[in-house]
Amino acid sequence: MALPIFKPDLLHLFSISLFLFTSVSISHSHSNDFCEAGALYGAAGCGISPPLSSAKLLIKGGTVVNAHHQEVADVYVEDGVIVTVRPNLKVGDDVQVLDATGKLVMPGGIDPHTHLAMEFMGTETIDDFFSGQAAALAGGTTMHIDFVIPVNGSLTAGIEAYERKAQKSCMDYGFHMAITKWDEDVSRDMEIMVKEKGINSFKFFLAYKGSLMISDELLLDGLKRCKSLGALAMVHAENGDAVFEGQNRMIELGITGPEGHALSRPPVLEAEATARAIRLASFVNTPLYVVHVMSIDAMEEIAKARKSGQKVVGEPVVSGLVLDDSKLWDPDFSIASKQELALYIYCCCFFFCIFAILYVMSPPIRALGHAKALQAALSTGILQLVGTDHCAFNSTQKAFGIDDFRKIPNGVNGIEERMHLVWDTMVETGQMSVTDYVRVTSTECARIFNIYPRKGAILAGSDADIIIFNPNSSVGISARSHHSRTDTNVYEGRRGKGKVEVTIAGGRVVWINDELKVSPGSGKYVEMPPFNYLFSGVDKADDSYLASLNAPVKRSKSTRCRGEVNGLVSQVSQAGIVPEITLHHLPLGPSFREDGCVRRTAWTSAPFRFPLSELRNGLPPIIALSCHPEMVLWT
Ligand code: URP
Ligand code: ZN
Ligand code: ZN
Repeated sequence: MALPIFKPDLLHLFSISLFLFTSVSISHSHSNDFCEAGALYGAAGCGISPPLSSAKLLIKGGTVVNAHHQEVADVYVEDGVIVTVRPNLKVGDDVQVLDATGKLVMPGGIDPHTHLAMEFMGTETIDDFFSGQAAALAGGTTMHIDFVIPVNGSLTAGIEAYERKAQKSCMDYGFHMAITKWDEDVSRDMEIMVKEKGINSFKFFLAYKGSLMISDELLLDGLKRCKSLGALAMVHAENGDAVFEGQNRMIELGITGPEGHALSRPPVLEAEATARAIRLASFVNTPLYVVHVMSIDAMEEIAKARKSGQKVVGEPVVSGLVLDDSKLWDPDFSIASKQELALYIYCCCFFFCIFAILYVMSPPIRALGHAKALQAALSTGILQLVGTDHCAFNSTQKAFGIDDFRKIPNGVNGIEERMHLVWDTMVETGQMSVTDYVRVTSTECARIFNIYPRKGAILAGSDADIIIFNPNSSVGISARSHHSRTDTNVYEGRRGKGKVEVTIAGGRVVWINDELKVSPGSGKYVEMPPFNYLFSGVDKADDSYLASLNAPVKRSKSTRCRGEVNGLVSQVSQAGIVPEITLHHLPLGPSFREDGCVRRTAWTSAPFRFPLSELRNGLPPIIALSCHPEMVLWT
């Protein structure tokens, strides 16, 4: 049932107060809320307990799945590292044994795209490095790579801030770094980030005009610098100038609700920026990673580039793979009831259609059809790995844009749901094999960011980041049971096949029997070295490019021509009253001039004569030719 939307002022005030009241009470009643950030983490009553830490662990009888192979085998772990993967291992009594018979033993997920504790659009994402990571672990993800945002353009200030934020980590993590301005300091600091801080990727925002957006000139500088450092350039590909124009257009049309967000930044603007970034990366000859590919249009640009041999990585995010934009338009109360936040949603949805604002992210979640095409692209290798762009805000924060879609903080949740949703959407539907599932959720990310096989594999010597997955079980998603701090979930009410029953991070059992056992400070920073596999061959391509130029063309210097012509001067006929020079057979178009004389730019293949009477002041007839190398002169 569609409800009428009206906004008399008093009702507006009433609803805002009710909204704030209900969102506060709902978030406080949230069963899995973690304690506030900081020192309280890990304290009794926070809903968490310390990890089950046994230095020795055996995972017995499961099917071990790597991206390249699967087999029934046992996995023996000691001190956080996988020691042996082999069937029928025998161990002593001091080893904790987990029975995985009938289940899949897979590398923990690696999420290449998250925003924890990110200051953005006037607020800060609700999940920090503890709550976000705890949520990730409950969903089978054991490492993520977050984006450091520079402070006033400064990379060093940015990394310092993120190092502080990450102190409470409970799982392994790495950093990408955004570049938001360009000068010599930034260029120098990029090298420091790569060589001293273990960052091997830099992100350029082509959208968010007035805040994070950069120009094409900066993008070119950045691409060149990335190439020289062996760092991977990443782009948020939307045309920010055109988005700004689109936003103004919507406001002029009186469209202020969340549907205006999608309408103001259509797929064509994503495709344009994707194509532009791809072409500039090709011009510089450096690999490119396109984050959150949300539309068929952008995906096809990536497909075209890859087909032509260009090294472009395309990352769909789970929201783009499984959702469509209908929620942005839907004022129907029945959706609210699914959220089981009836009073809150009823009041807000009734007056302001607030439910839709939860789905606002950039690029927007697209119309029906895009998700299916992105799934197909993922299953056929056009797109390579799945991220989340986990950038969670609670409903109070989302409501900043209740009257103006431009103020809705952009971003949705997903860090906890990704592994389950990709399984259900891709494997359960027959679109993807189990080994490919491991590839797109873990291994490919490890390869691209140059940490394979330490991460992304169940091999002797790899970190013991492992999940035990029951394909015959199922899992439901709800804000009431998830571990993120946000009070809503864009996947609310979904139920899918497959369940992460156990998560092991760094050899510690951190999720078992639906319980988290995590402690802040236990996560490690993972340094990622430059020059990943995408860089191999870049130098050879540069060499063939240079060879293909056929330039610079070697041209004769004018002095040489002058010498030749001087030789000719001796052939000057002095006979008769009007002496002449005769030039025979000038096969190509010479432009020559007779020094101190008239200028001639004609050419002829026939003997060319001109009278010396044209010389001024009787100067010697020195002829300077403008040096066409093929000019042949003889008499
Ligand atoms: O809406 C989004 N995607 N928010 C996070 C920032 C970004 O663009 O990645
Ligand atoms: Zn982005
Ligand atoms: Zn993002």
